[in-house]
Amino acid sequence: MSTAEETKVEVDKEKEQEDYVDPWTVTASSQKGVDYDKLIDIFGSSKIDEALLERFKKVTGTEPHHFLRRGIFFSHREMHRILDLVEKGKSFYLYTGRGPSSDAMHLGHLIPFMMTKWLQDVFDVPLVIQLTDDEKYLWKDLELGTCRKLANENTKDIIACGFDVNKTFIFSDMEFIGGEFYKNVLRVQKRVTFNQVKGIFGFDDSSVIGKIMFPAIQAAPAFSSSFPLIFGGKKDVPCLIPCAIDQDPYFRMTRDVAPRMGFEKPALLHSTFFPALQGAISKMSASDENSSIFLTDTPNMIKKKINKYAFSGGRDNIEEHREKGGDCEVDVSYKYLTFFLEDDEQLENIRQQYSSGQMLTGELKAELIKVLQKLIQDHQNIRQTVTDDNVREFMTPRKLNFPYDVVQIDDDLGKKGKGKKKEKK
Ligand code: TRP
Repeated sequence: MSTAEETKVEVDKEKEQEDYVDPWTVTASSQKGVDYDKLIDIFGSSKIDEALLERFKKVTGTEPHHFLRRGIFFSHREMHRILDLVEKGKSFYLYTGRGPSSDAMHLGHLIPFMMTKWLQDVFDVPLVIQLTDDEKYLWKDLELGTCRKLANENTKDIIACGFDVNKTFIFSDMEFIGGEFYKNVLRVQKRVTFNQVKGIFGFDDSSVIGKIMFPAIQAAPAFSSSFPLIFGGKKDVPCLIPCAIDQDPYFRMTRDVAPRMGFEKPALLHSTFFPALQGAISKMSASDENSSIFLTDTPNMIKKKINKYAFSGGRDNIEEHREKGGDCEVDVSYKYLTFFLEDDEQLENIRQQYSSGQMLTGELKAELIKVLQKLIQDHQNIRQTVTDDNVREFMTPRKLNFPYDVVQIDDDLGKKGKGKKKEKK
């Protein structure tokens, strides 16, 4: 069992009282992690509830992914609208992204991509993936060339998640922005004031102007007309964005401007954060090596990090542990298993044994180590086979393998919106 000293996290005193979430900072007030129900209230999104899961199952004929069943993707905006479309035989597209700030991606970075890959398989829809190398240049102390290079390195990890090259376009902002995409960036920029982004993102008078305009760039991929090669110029192919909840501010802004541009609002699926090894007070961060398990870690490193750092919900000594049992609500190894151990029955067995005291922290950690060693080894094996040519292929602007009339617009929506949705400027 880890001692309290080993796993203690330093938390900024002022932030200790309340959860704090924006696109750059996440801190929770308790080891249980962020209070996600409260976040749904504050952000004004909707909970992914049983009824939605049932509908998901009915419409797709597939058991919802364990990320959905276990509340790892816990919140949404207008997922019912997407399912309505699918029920009517219409289509949509997926959009997600990554800010390439480090060479090695960590486990937490995989979550949205694993979810997106599953959604792409289940719905058979086109996918665009934005690499915000521009964002990282503006926010981090990195050179332009470094950010661009990191985007390509990260693309290999993203490709290794199993995306189909015929249905997926991955782009670097630095390389791709121009043409119809840039026109949409401009349309957003004309409709959002400095005051608004100050409110949404906390910018102030000393923020560099690149940061102030950046949110328009993250908004643009949510509009199908940004990708004429893929959507044949259609303006109203609906978009679904799977992302971590900290990205929601960008898409609140996007949803706010969309109708004023004559476009559909994107729908969203939000995930919880992937906790740092030291506990759910903060999320896993690539800039803190000891908080993270990287996709490049060796089996031995994985074992050592988990044994040494993973915050334990176990008791101080064996007697007490046998008597009171471990606390799954704060135990990081258990939390990680909920992300990566797919077998529901096995997970429930572990939960029961651990919380009843039958299973010790060391034994729980051994289970997790096994699961993660395999996951990461499998990932590394595939990534090794991804070549620079593969990267180029995914990143080449091109038609995807969908006839335009399969990427169908909702005619009803189109008619209803006529006139009202016509763009004014
Ligand atoms: N800003 C995101 C990050 O720093 C990257 C990103 C761009 C993104 N577009 C997105 C993430 C859409 C999720 C969905 O990682």
